[in-house]
Amino acid sequence: MERSRKKGKVAVIGLAGQSAFMAADHFPAPGETIACSSLFFELGGKGYNQAIACARMGVKTVFIGAVGDDTNGVECKTELEKEGITACLVKKTEPTAYAVITTRADSENTVSVYSGAAKKLSGEDLQREEIRKEIADCEYLLLQNELSTECLEASFALASQLHIPVIFNPAPADHIPPELFAGCEVITPNYGEAKVLAGFAESEEPSEQDFLEALRKLGVKQAVITMGCKGALLIDGGKASMIPAVSCGTAIDTTGAGDTFNGTLTAALALGKRLEEAAKLAAIAAGISVTRRGAAGSIPTADELNAYL
Ligand code: RIB
Repeated sequence: MERSRKKGKVAVIGLAGQSAFMAADHFPAPGETIACSSLFFELGGKGYNQAIACARMGVKTVFIGAVGDDTNGVECKTELEKEGITACLVKKTEPTAYAVITTRADSENTVSVYSGAAKKLSGEDLQREEIRKEIADCEYLLLQNELSTECLEASFALASQLHIPVIFNPAPADHIPPELFAGCEVITPNYGEAKVLAGFAESEEPSEQDFLEALRKLGVKQAVITMGCKGALLIDGGKASMIPAVSCGTAIDTTGAGDTFNGTLTAALALGKRLEEAAKLAAIAAGISVTRRGAAGSIPTADELNAYL
């Protein structure tokens, strides 16, 4: 069915919470204690960061998630609203989500997440009048896999009822019902996640054609596979092509680069750009974000992106 063109608004359903960032010269091995050289706190979550990336591109954004009845939950709402985002946060009895992020000198990171209240967001919550109404008014729905499977499935079902295309960032790539992929407009895994979804072993190095075939079998119509400093593999209309990575300076922290990519990509699509053009803009935004520390704080605004362009 042909959708009527809405107002370029994006809905993001996902995890919002607090994160502790620590810098170390190497990651701990099992049983090892390491000393970290810095500590700072920043609100985050893939959905939270992606909503911020969308809003910083000048696109009207609504974020839907669940938080606990605690200070971190209150701060999530305050910070989202400061960014101009409509925050629909359902309160749960579990604490607000919390992540511990270790960054290494070469800009790589590890992330451990306690989902808490975020995974308690339910399909029933999405049916609340104020939430359903916000989603119904959107041009795109952006999802990640930091929700419960029940909520993820309900999000897809609602998007289908309301004829809203879904951009799905399957991160992390585990426990995703495979039938969901056919319901996506675009999927945006990173290279490791794409291998898991497509069923390749860790030791395999699939070619562009291998990905094309495997994702087609999953029912994926369009995909952008992010590959860090190698760029992104765009799969569209049965063809695969590379979008080059953009180096905007020395990479110091890659945390949130994928979120920056996803939020910018979806914002650009909502502004009417074609997928390839949107992916190129997203690659620049991600390239800028890795030159700054943190996740949400490293996401560029539309002005910064334009200045680069
Ligand atoms: O993608 C990075 C994000 O994943 C962090 O902000 C952290 O909160 C985790 O959910």
